[in-house]
Amino acid sequence: MIPADLRVRLGETVAPVPPRLFGGFVEHMGRCVYQGIYEPEHPSADEGGFRADVLELVRELGVTVVRYPGGNFVSGYRWEDGVGPRSERPVRLDAAWHQTETNQVGLHEFATWAAQAGVEVMQAVNLGTRGIEAAGDLLEYSNHPGGTALSDRRRANGAEEPFGITLWCLGNEMDGPWQIGHKTADEYGRLAAETARYMRFLDHRVELVVAGSSNMEMPTFGEWERTVLRHTADQADHISVHAYYEESDGDVASFLASAAGLDRYLDTVAGIIDEVREELGLTKQIGISVDEWNVWYQRDWNDNHKDAVLSGDWPVAPRLIEDEYNVTDAVVVGSLLISLLRHSDRVSMANLAQLVNVIAPIRSEPDGAAWRQTTFFPFALTSARARGRVVPLSVKVAAGLTEKYGEVELVDAVSTVSDDGCVSLFVVNRSVDDPAALSVELDGAELVLEDAQTLTVPAGGDRFTTNTQESQPVAPVALDGVVVEGAGTATRLSVTLPPISWSVLTLRPAAAVSEGTPHA
Ligand code: AHR
Repeated sequence: MIPADLRVRLGETVAPVPPRLFGGFVEHMGRCVYQGIYEPEHPSADEGGFRADVLELVRELGVTVVRYPGGNFVSGYRWEDGVGPRSERPVRLDAAWHQTETNQVGLHEFATWAAQAGVEVMQAVNLGTRGIEAAGDLLEYSNHPGGTALSDRRRANGAEEPFGITLWCLGNEMDGPWQIGHKTADEYGRLAAETARYMRFLDHRVELVVAGSSNMEMPTFGEWERTVLRHTADQADHISVHAYYEESDGDVASFLASAAGLDRYLDTVAGIIDEVREELGLTKQIGISVDEWNVWYQRDWNDNHKDAVLSGDWPVAPRLIEDEYNVTDAVVVGSLLISLLRHSDRVSMANLAQLVNVIAPIRSEPDGAAWRQTTFFPFALTSARARGRVVPLSVKVAAGLTEKYGEVELVDAVSTVSDDGCVSLFVVNRSVDDPAALSVELDGAELVLEDAQTLTVPAGGDRFTTNTQESQPVAPVALDGVVVEGAGTATRLSVTLPPISWSVLTLRPAAAVSEGTPHA
């Protein structure tokens, strides 16, 4: 049994929970758009061709903002191809993923879908094959009310009102040699700065994300951020971080400790932002936009599929990187969310990549079902329960040795308090074999337990159990045996956490219970 003692200081605040922390990502890649969110022939499709079953799951997932249309795809994309009468839209080769793009979904359709899903659009511009002019044109087309060639074209194409998109990504992973139009940090920094300036001239409301490194292992990591920020700091509101994790060579201990890697990544980028701000005498803050993160079995893609896919035919909506997630993956996704929440003072937004079919929490089959992957649940529960502000939490927990990250505490947690005083505790047990004896002291309120759920190995399954179209055995279950003792302004909680588990416990003020106030 792993002893795990936590102390939560409810009266103090790390930062408000950023609503955009629960973002998603829809790329024109594989079956994310076509057969994912959009399938006009599907029995559940609405008049716009969007699948109602998928939309329902997107709503349940609790996504707040969705990045679109890429990803690597955006670096060769002409946004004009996706507007106007569908029958006249060109069919193009997409060189990023070696697929054929029919352009049946574009800006208007995505804006309609996003409104139905209740999410903000985070629009990426192409700084690979294109540049300042195309980015400005897209912005004017999207946001100017009317009376100019571009805005009137939008109105003629059926959108009388501007889309009002304020959040924009300036390119994607421009540090990566795989990126169409890959650039050096200086080349990208200059282009991003001038694109940003032009976009602000056109619409002063824009919020801009400059591209950071594609991952922490890039040889240019660090220097890339410094150089790009030196060029763009006066214009940038956020800098991106992309972070994917996987279990490799059977090293499950390192995989379960992936959040320690994300913690280091975020702390390093935050340090670089501070360094450049000081160097330039900047008073404004620059947020970290973790606009691609997830578990992704990238080595399998690179070793076994990439070469064949990228040199083969040019299919429409091929099955690309449709990773099937198991229990361990879901626990890691939950733990990465803990890391993101812990960094709420620096992370301004985050996007689980991607939303449907392509390394996604939601899967769908053409003319068939849509279902929740294992990773759906920690995301949906965190998005639903992490409200208000993140509060400081200290841990006294046994550590385990990992190959990738050294000593890592076996239990990790974060806690939030909503405006009505409800406390949520998100906690992960990263041990493969041992349960953890969790003991939590919550200073500042007398609380009672409202709900406790855990995602762990299901009865009859193992840590590799997945959810498939036919059966979905992995879902959160009640976490039994929670003992809560509250008195005055303190609460003590104890429970046993199963090995390889992610749990959420929600408590509400004892006073609200006696008054019978339900928790929203
Ligand atoms: O999400 C899949 C791909 O991962 C994206 O297109 C790219 O930005 C990243 O490398």
